[in-house]
Amino acid sequence: MKVLILHGPNLNRLGKREPAVYGSTTLEQIDSQLQELARQLGAEVECFQSNHEGALIDKLQAASEEMQAVVFNPGAFTHYSIALRDAVASLDIPVVEVHLSNIHAREEFRHRSVIAPVAAGQISGFGTASYLLGLRAVLSLVQSRGKTN
Ligand code: DQA
Repeated sequence: MKVLILHGPNLNRLGKREPAVYGSTTLEQIDSQLQELARQLGAEVECFQSNHEGALIDKLQAASEEMQAVVFNPGAFTHYSIALRDAVASLDIPVVEVHLSNIHAREEFRHRSVIAPVAAGQISGFGTASYLLGLRAVLSLVQSRGKTN
């Protein structure tokens, strides 16, 4: 079973970027924790980060052919990208939305996610663990849907 881990804009700067909000773990470290957890759970992950909306859309579209699920942190696109929302809505594989910070406890413009209504669910506020919980959540969804190939 293959899961796409998709990171949106500015997440390549984790570790250096606003550590009081996002912690000191780098994206590379998050990806290697995800690889390790996937291995333990008998799955495989492919990790991809882009600062560009179109590149994220291309990756989501390709995932529908190649992957069984997606864990997606859309970064600031969460709050306004209808194009990403439409790309997620078009998939027939589950997408779990994740955020390091608790977007509902921050500035008002972060409270709304345009992705959430078309995602299988949202995990927000647990730092690096949001991704690990997201991977567990999406694997359990796929397994309960019986799509483990
Ligand atoms: C974020 C929250 C977003 O509001 C912000 O724009 C990000 C990161 C998070 O993981 O907490 O870039 O998605």
